[in-house]
Amino acid sequence: MILNVFDDHTDLSFQAARIICDQIKAKPDSVICFASGETPLSAYSLFTTLMMAEQIDYQHFTLIGLDEWVGVPPENHGSCAWFLRTNVINPLNLLPGQYRLFDGMTSDLPGECVAMDEFISERGGLDLIVVGIGMNGHIGFNEPGVSPDLYSHVIELDEITSTVGQKYFKEETRLTKGITLGIRHLREAKTAMLLASGERKAPIMKATLEGEISMEVPATIMREHPNGLVLIDQKAASLLTARE
Ligand code: GLP
Repeated sequence: MILNVFDDHTDLSFQAARIICDQIKAKPDSVICFASGETPLSAYSLFTTLMMAEQIDYQHFTLIGLDEWVGVPPENHGSCAWFLRTNVINPLNLLPGQYRLFDGMTSDLPGECVAMDEFISERGGLDLIVVGIGMNGHIGFNEPGVSPDLYSHVIELDEITSTVGQKYFKEETRLTKGITLGIRHLREAKTAMLLASGERKAPIMKATLEGEISMEVPATIMREHPNGLVLIDQKAASLLTARE
């Protein structure tokens, strides 16, 4: 795993955007998983701008949505689907077969997990997975205590996740379950890139990078990834003992 500490969120976002662009340049049919959330927002905006400015062929890559709130419809602005449509899918005009997002409204959630896993494996697995980190160390909705061997699954949300998650919604929303790619997807992705920014992420980044590797802090799995990239800014790195 490589740790890169940037001066600020802007520098971090430029580097993340560059890495995603270069992945598609090197392998136009890449399969890339995108997290939603505040952290990657600028990176995605820079990514779509760079793709168009540099005329990189983006008609052959596949976008996978990392996770979704169960029971939240895609037209709700707090949904992960709405976030990815607004910030990546629509700006790049991706074709319907070019992306796969979880349907958090389906009555067959186990079937939805199987369909997502098949969609990814039929395309040769993930080339790159871009993730953020929850305040409790979750990745996607892989909450503390999750099995590292799971692919897609449905999970009861941690209280921290349900509370912090309100920031994405205009009105208070009941958030009890999530549907998410599993830690196994991250472990098997050719490259895994974790982004974290701001002081509020400093304690969990210290636990992630300097604590015991354990599923009590799922993000610690990044340290075992042979091609793991952790991009954080100075504020998120402020509690680290040994800064690079
Ligand atoms: C959310 C999502 C994650 C996201 C994380 C951090 O709950 N499930 O996929 O990466 O929390 O979000 P943010 O970047 O807004 O801090």
